[in-house]
Amino acid sequence: MQLREEISLKPFNTFGIDVRARFFAEALTEEDIIKLAGNLREDYLPLLILGGGSNILFTKDFPGTVMKISMKGIHVIKEDEDTVWVKAGAGENWDDLVKFCVDNGWGGLENLSAIPGNAGTSPVQNIGAYGVEMKDTFFELETFDLESKGKKIFSKEECGFGYRESIFKLKYKGRFIILNVTFRLLKKPVLHLDYGNIREELTLMTADHPGIADVREAICRIRSRKLPDPAVIGNAGSFFKNPVILPQQFENLKQSFPGIVSFPQDEKIKLAAAWMIEQCGWKGKRIGNAGVHSTQPLVLVNHGNATGPEIMQLSSAIRDSVQEKFGVVLETEVNLI
Ligand code: FAD
Ligand code: EPU
Repeated sequence: MQLREEISLKPFNTFGIDVRARFFAEALTEEDIIKLAGNLREDYLPLLILGGGSNILFTKDFPGTVMKISMKGIHVIKEDEDTVWVKAGAGENWDDLVKFCVDNGWGGLENLSAIPGNAGTSPVQNIGAYGVEMKDTFFELETFDLESKGKKIFSKEECGFGYRESIFKLKYKGRFIILNVTFRLLKKPVLHLDYGNIREELTLMTADHPGIADVREAICRIRSRKLPDPAVIGNAGSFFKNPVILPQQFENLKQSFPGIVSFPQDEKIKLAAAWMIEQCGWKGKRIGNAGVHSTQPLVLVNHGNATGPEIMQLSSAIRDSVQEKFGVVLETEVNLI
């Protein structure tokens, strides 16, 4: 594995931010990861693990080593009459994994179609979309611990999954490198069609008796209409999380804003941040090279040569106005580096 110096990270992050890494290496095997991460000299630190770069905002040049995880491989490790356990290398493309499972008729990941990034990153924020979260099919993952320099397996309970959350984003941020992830899929799939306009899209597709391949297609169609393609305009998906608040706070907000968009979230209420940002007048707005997307205001975009600080400035202005109008604080979903 080659350790290169002074590399532009522009091709390696979907925001398209042009910063440099002092050192850069691409790990194609587990041995590459362990060899580099296990023996990195002090003057090559800090170490940043990079997947597909689709949930990152670089705010400055990176002073240490960026290791891009590109280790592939999809394997069935076990199966019985109803279930199949599929293990993916951390650098496997997420949507290639979803397609592989759908093509084989194994249900569970189809609602998570067309999310950019690596399979190995999917547990970091417990990716979610269209009524399903990665944790619903997660079985276990294997890591390399940068502290003990040994391997450790995490069960579902140990990962502390929540809405766009896991221990790898909190307590163990930066400590464990995920090497592979195992999912538990169903040979007799159960369809999840209740979120948003999935059913409507299936009707438009004239899929009267839909299967998981139809659900995948419906979701790909909805997403390509709503979300900007990073190959066309730089972005990292939702910049903020949807705020989750207590029912009493929601009742108070509803008095002042009867049209407020919300969804139940366990015992709490999840607010649509996109709606609040739009109400504050930000939809489609542009400040210099940084902008708010015109059909999904939760997504911030790079109109050209935006810098990380420019995107940050825009995000702070949005956060301030949402707090002022609604008294709700928006939390950033994207990882700031
Ligand atoms: P990166 O951006 O490379 O990394 C993200 C974080 O994970 C970083 O902190 C990094 O250090 C860490 N990391 C990466 N790999 C590893 C590893 N092997 N071990 C340990 N830590 C690691 N997300 C959703 O949840 N739902 C969506 O619907 C969704 N839609 C999106 C749509 C668009 C157009 C875009 C651009 C993004 C979207 N996202 C969505 C966000 C993003 O795709 C996911 O968060 C994805 O899982 C990020 O994967 P990545 O490999 O690109 O991660
Ligand atoms: N809305 C508006 N104006 C708009 C767009 C949306 O008011 O211009 C309102 C609508 O009422 C809509 C609601 O916002 O019902 C929710 O919008 P949408 O269904 O597009 O989803 P979202 O809450 O904005 C979340 C995820 C996405 C995920 C979609 C689909 C978060 C932070 N974002 O977005 O995930 O793809 O649901 O499940 O939870 C990501 O995490 O990067 C991401 C893209």
